[in-house]
Amino acid sequence: MTLPIKVPPIKCQGIKTKLAPFILSQIQWAEKDRSQWIEPFLGSGVVVFNLAPKRALLTDTNQHIIAFYRSIQDGRINRSMVSEFLHDQGDQLLKNGADYYYEVRDRFNQFASPLDFLFLNRACFNGLMRFNSKGGFNVPFCRKPQRFAQSYITKIANQVDWVANQMAGKDWEFRVATWQDTLTEARLGDFVYLDPPYIGRHTDYYNAWNQAEAENLAVLTKQLPCGFAVSMWLENQHRQNSHIQECWSDLDVRICQHFYHVGSRESLRGAIAEALLIKPGFSASLDTTPSRSPAKLHQ
Ligand SMILES: C[S@@+](CC[C@H](N)C(=O)[O-])C[C@H]1O[C@@H](n2cnc3c(N)ncnc32)[C@H](O)[C@@H]1O
Repeated sequence: MTLPIKVPPIKCQGIKTKLAPFILSQIQWAEKDRSQWIEPFLGSGVVVFNLAPKRALLTDTNQHIIAFYRSIQDGRINRSMVSEFLHDQGDQLLKNGADYYYEVRDRFNQFASPLDFLFLNRACFNGLMRFNSKGGFNVPFCRKPQRFAQSYITKIANQVDWVANQMAGKDWEFRVATWQDTLTEARLGDFVYLDPPYIGRHTDYYNAWNQAEAENLAVLTKQLPCGFAVSMWLENQHRQNSHIQECWSDLDVRICQHFYHVGSRESLRGAIAEALLIKPGFSASLDTTPSRSPAKLHQ
């Protein structure tokens, strides 16, 4: 695999686009015939799409993310369909402005169409993916009616085509599941990449993450029979993440400085040091840098 990293069609809080080269370069996993890559917190899927393993179990509690990628996997959504849909919806957005955005939002909250999910994700404020306590998408419009210009539509359609190609012919399962259920499927030889929500940050219907759940994740992950790596913020300008010391000691720690730019408030954005905590025996040698190709991910 060569860098740079490519970008999937949907955005979410905590998306690892910028960190994916770092993450993939630090993990050393020998993929075997029956082994699989497991991602219990799939989100946008940027890590697995760039890795493109032969087998994968990709889960998230957010049913809309899973439905969207399943639609691409079974061909119900493809590049030309996305292009046509966004042209049509983009025209209506241009004519009717914010009212049209909210019409699509209501429609999505009633029928949950994957294409509407894509439209909202790419038209909403600041690329947020946020749901109210009843599971309704509630991100406001970004105030840019001319958002779906030809170049933007082409870019999104190409991103859809890229993820379709990355999963084509592969044994990948997309499933709505909690991380607990997903971890029970990990076997010797598999590799589990975990990117849980940040404790107390971006809390919503699909991201109700708290201290107890974070602690439980650490306990169960450390019992896995296979390799694993966990993404977690290490420190920002204000404080350090004490949860790492408390729950994730005795792992190989790799650190990357990162600028976190998706967030509803300025205070949620800024420079942050991100840690990748890797089970000993599954980390690449220390002189591996993100500017080089990921080491031995495929064998
Ligand atoms: C930080 S995001 C993952 C970002 C992803 N790595 C990326 O680069 O786009 C966390 C994801 O975990 C999902 N999630 C939250 N709570 C969960 C749970 N209890 N079980 C499984 N997934 C959960 C959220 O829906 C969200 O998509």
